[in-house]
Amino acid sequence: MSAALLSETDQQAGDPTAADLIAARPHLSTHPMDGLLVEGVPLLAIAREVGTPTWVISAGALRSRLARLHAALADLPIRVHYAVKANDHLAILRLMAQGGAGADVVSGGELQRALHAGLDPAHIVFSGVGKQEWELRLALERGIGQINVESAEELAMLSAIAKSTGKTATVALRINPDVDAGTHAKITTGRADNKFGISYDGAAALYAHAAGLPGIDPAGIALHIGSQILSMTPYHAAYRRAADLVRTLRAAGQNVRIVDCGGGLGIGYRDEPAPAPEAFAATIRQAFAGLDVRLAIEPGRWLAGPPGLLLAGVVLGKTTGERRFVVLDAAMNDLLRPAMYDSWHGIIPVAATDLVAPATPCDIVGPVCETGDTFAKSRALPPLAPHAKVAILDAGAYGSVMSSTYNARPLAAQVLVDGDRWTTIRARQSPEAMWADETVPAWI
Ligand code: LLP
Repeated sequence: MSAALLSETDQQAGDPTAADLIAARPHLSTHPMDGLLVEGVPLLAIAREVGTPTWVISAGALRSRLARLHAALADLPIRVHYAVKANDHLAILRLMAQGGAGADVVSGGELQRALHAGLDPAHIVFSGVGKQEWELRLALERGIGQINVESAEELAMLSAIAKSTGKTATVALRINPDVDAGTHAKITTGRADNKFGISYDGAAALYAHAAGLPGIDPAGIALHIGSQILSMTPYHAAYRRAADLVRTLRAAGQNVRIVDCGGGLGIGYRDEPAPAPEAFAATIRQAFAGLDVRLAIEPGRWLAGPPGLLLAGVVLGKTTGERRFVVLDAAMNDLLRPAMYDSWHGIIPVAATDLVAPATPCDIVGPVCETGDTFAKSRALPPLAPHAKVAILDAGAYGSVMSSTYNARPLAAQVLVDGDRWTTIRARQSPEAMWADETVPAWI
């Protein structure tokens, strides 16, 4: 179906049209009979067999994004460590490993998942501000490639564990560069008043201290300034400070082999001018040219966000006063981002007839008993009958991983599409599974 066939009226207040959103996402297309497709698979077929809400992720889009990132970075001594937190499904991790990525993990659980999915321990980096003793011990026992240490206290704990196990921990000190990433306050991490990292000014002293600790090999520095970053300016500033620190450390006689540049590369959810990976690569290249360090990045959203969507069904449409509401069977317990960060996600109809029907503004909400359970306000959609389907776009990162069973709503099913093939990669949670681990004490 051509873009022109889509309704001209479905553009409100400068929002991109459904046609614009589809055109900007190569794994999406429309068919005159089957409606919206992910790669070669009609979403209506998935909805028929698996029901809704269901997460649908395109393996092809994941692979091609990773390949594009690798191509942009090809001339650099760099490794991509996929930030597992963005989407930790085993199949996604396996695809990342097959595409040549390592992993960035932030908990023992993520570490166990990454290992279970077949990632090479040598290519796993362990980040996080509050790693527990068992988690650090596990990382050492399994030969994890690098531990990003965020405080003097953690360094002491790690040294003690390394000593007791006879292992040496390869450590990067995570520096807080005190740079504002210009992103949502809840996901900025590189300012001096954030909980993350070691203060820039204290870094050299702690590095020297680390060099004298048993079981610690201080190999370099790490930084991560935030998420959904849409400009290269904060990266420039942060990486310049990181490069300066490398020079300072070396001048003080320290051995610095690694700079871990973190993640945060943003994507265009609406029509934001998202930076290209080539621009990111150029920023890294410029900052660290001639320094002779091994580099790493930790992208999550850029890789996993666009390939995924949340397929939802319409429960009913209703009008209260002047406002038209479309109530979906998906809710904030499934996709938390709009409620948590007021984030914008494209929402488009799935059926071919709905894709061409005239659209009017409506609020798209879930059934959870909170006003915050709103996916979008004043968004142009056609009249949608009960059981009609919509796709909530760019939900592959920080979507399913942030779900809960609030309102006793089971975790949604997950489907992986690859070309014309598709498979359910996680069954919809059963009601029984929701309470399987609960006990009612005999004494009540
Ligand atoms: N490395 C570290 C140390 C991180 O803390 C993060 C994300 C990443 C890498 C990956 O960042 P990315 O490339 O995905 O931006 N739930 C929020 C995002 C939280 C990000 C937390 N840290 C959201 O839905 O927007």
